[in-house]
Amino acid sequence: MKIAIGCDHGGIALKDVILPLLEKMGHQVDDQGTNSNVSVDYPLFAKTVCNLVADNTCERGILICGTGIGMSMAANRNPKIRAALCTEMFSARMSREHNNANVLCLGARITGPGLAEEIVRIWLNTDFAGDRHLRRIEMF
Ligand code: RB5
Repeated sequence: MKIAIGCDHGGIALKDVILPLLEKMGHQVDDQGTNSNVSVDYPLFAKTVCNLVADNTCERGILICGTGIGMSMAANRNPKIRAALCTEMFSARMSREHNNANVLCLGARITGPGLAEEIVRIWLNTDFAGDRHLRRIEMF
């Protein structure tokens, strides 16, 4: 699938791990930066990635900052985005099965690269369960 990815300076080290994983998994990646360690404002990257998901240019988005908190707050301001900040694998699965999350947020200063890779794999390979969960997300 086509996946937009973005990060701030706090997330760049983890983006450098996740992006090649996505490509290895056979996904098409639209990297919206940042691509240096210079301090940047995460809401700008959240907005860009979320717009690509909201207008269906990309099916999913992944946003990475230091904690994942700022990115998830900014992403969820877009009414078409259901962003989930995941720090472990159970939430990654449930955010897809029950919430049909279309954006995954990760915290590079919280979640190590090995766990982050597992979270991404699970999040991309889990389908939405629909049914009562569809009714609920339509109430947002
Ligand atoms: C940047 O220092 C940091 O505030 C940002 O990466 C993120 O953690 C915000 O939620």
